[in-house]
Amino acid sequence: MIVDLRSDTVTKPTVAMRLAMAEAAVGDDVFGEDPSLAALESRVAAMLGKDAGLFVPSGTMANQIAIRLLTQPGDEVILEASAHPFLYEAGGPAVISGVTLRLVPGERGLLDPDDVRAAVRPPNVHHAMPTLLSVENTANRGGGTVTTLSRARALGAVAREAGLATHLDGARLWNAHIATGTPLAELAGPFDVVNVCFSKGLGAPVGSVLCCSAGQIARARRIRKMLGGGMRQAGILGAACLHALDHHVARLADDHRRARGLAEGLLAAGWDVALPETNLVYVRCADAHAVVAGLAARGVRAIALAHDQVRLVTHLDVDDEGIAHALGAFGDLRRAAAR
Ligand SMILES: Cc1ncc(COP(=O)(O)O)c(C=O)c1O
Repeated sequence: MIVDLRSDTVTKPTVAMRLAMAEAAVGDDVFGEDPSLAALESRVAAMLGKDAGLFVPSGTMANQIAIRLLTQPGDEVILEASAHPFLYEAGGPAVISGVTLRLVPGERGLLDPDDVRAAVRPPNVHHAMPTLLSVENTANRGGGTVTTLSRARALGAVAREAGLATHLDGARLWNAHIATGTPLAELAGPFDVVNVCFSKGLGAPVGSVLCCSAGQIARARRIRKMLGGGMRQAGILGAACLHALDHHVARLADDHRRARGLAEGLLAAGWDVALPETNLVYVRCADAHAVVAGLAARGVRAIALAHDQVRLVTHLDVDDEGIAHALGAFGDLRRAAAR
């Protein structure tokens, strides 16, 4: 048995999703003629309480479009120190938008509004001027932690006071919504531009939707074209996302339950683990690479995100049996180390 806990991006489209894709009504989306994408964009915008949506191939492109849309070259973007655009987007903000990043360390990836206020520098000829606050919900490197509605509102208020635009990287906003029961539109409310991903917990092969005002969406469409993200009969992909909205959102509760069960089992076995709020479990250990290799030898795939940190992620393609198998493999590692 192989259990792949490396990421929630490793899921394969289900048969039902593939059928929905095969049957999708399509047209040339660069001409604005793809009915499936139009349906997806307006549905997601309505869910997030925004005017309009734009389909893009990846979360990375969505983040980069948002930053380009909300800044000018030479500006400063404030974000948490482990935020995705800083750690994992190949320097895109510098290249695509010409901005600098001001990193504010948070507790488990969560920004403290007071720290953001303190990071906003006053106008001065020496300073890159901060113009944008970008927030990640849930926070990937924080361990899938949730920016609650009250924290999101407080961050939005600080940004408004300081005259900053606001962006929400909601790659896993679905998980925050399911974990807290807070409506998506409320979690998105404090932010000008919000993007959500379909290729993580929702199990689609490709796709993000970026939502904002009607005026901003026309500019976002132009930036997408510049980046090569204008696609033709992309309704085939949009149909997978529509299918995911119908069938894969509520079930995220199963991923959260399994992640919690996994973490509790590991804790009980003596591993150093934080109990997860959503679907990401981080294990602290002396040699993460050795643990990952030991797990792989026992049919469990995991990632070493640092020399002392292993990440395990629950998703659509992991069931209860997979979690039991993973716990067995960790137990086996412990016993092998004790011998
Ligand atoms: C929080 C967050 N934002 C953005 C992305 C980028 O998404 P993509 O891999 O679709 O470019 C990821 C990817 O894992 C992510 O975790």
